[in-house]
Amino acid sequence: MNNYHGLLRQNLAGRPIGHKIYFYEQTGSTNDDAFELGTAGEPHGTVILAERQVTGKGRMNRSWHSPPGANIYTSILLRPEFEPARAPQISIAAGIAVAETLHKHCPDTVQLKWPNDVLIAGRKICGILSQMKLCADAIDFVVVGIGINVNISRAELPEELRETATSLLIETGRELSRVDLIICLFENMAKWYRKLTEDGFDTIREKWLSLSPMIGGPVAVRFHDETILGRAYGLGDDGSLAVVTDADETVYVAAGDATILKKAKDYAAGH
Ligand code: BTN
Repeated sequence: MNNYHGLLRQNLAGRPIGHKIYFYEQTGSTNDDAFELGTAGEPHGTVILAERQVTGKGRMNRSWHSPPGANIYTSILLRPEFEPARAPQISIAAGIAVAETLHKHCPDTVQLKWPNDVLIAGRKICGILSQMKLCADAIDFVVVGIGINVNISRAELPEELRETATSLLIETGRELSRVDLIICLFENMAKWYRKLTEDGFDTIREKWLSLSPMIGGPVAVRFHDETILGRAYGLGDDGSLAVVTDADETVYVAAGDATILKKAKDYAAGH
């Protein structure tokens, strides 16, 4: 384990993301840790890595399955200097960074699903949970939490996830080095975050759209009890999904879960 820590520290020294690393053998949630560290004033680019999370958090109050020894659970602390409405753009950039990291091992099968799931062959391999702290009307910091299923086998996945989730081990048939993946992930995250801050959201949006199969197709977007049926056609500047509804109205959905509808009968049933 010390070798693992040493290799990461050595490879990430002086890098924009990962120059300061907190390792935890076990924690509640790396996002909660990052939030505390952000509040305590830790710098931009600090990262938290845990071997296991006891209360790993997902979007929409869900939990994130976080057993030890196999996967990546990390949170990145960022201090962007733009307005709070643009914060979701960071999650979108993070999805691209993860997709690029996984693409090396699973070429041409990695896809992004709004708002920020990463899928391989239609199954979820990574989830991203971003949280923001404001100071007056400005961003104090953003925490980008990333969970990637790396060396977990299908048998080790909880039964309820076996049909919908996957891992790099399941997809490639071999165990991969988490150290190499983490280094590559932080490098890609630094690259796409820099593009976002230097070039603006258009480049990010274009790349995200090219990786997302849902654009142009029929979707059902659920938020609480409401379901919107329509065709997804783009991303708003706030990271929302732009949908033309069946009633021919354009709506921007800021939060929820989107399902890609494959067949006409799915479309009629909304699932
Ligand atoms: C989702 O798809 O619902 C988002 C899942 C995010 C999971 C990661 S694991 C590291 C970080 N810490 C957490 O508690 N959650 C995120």
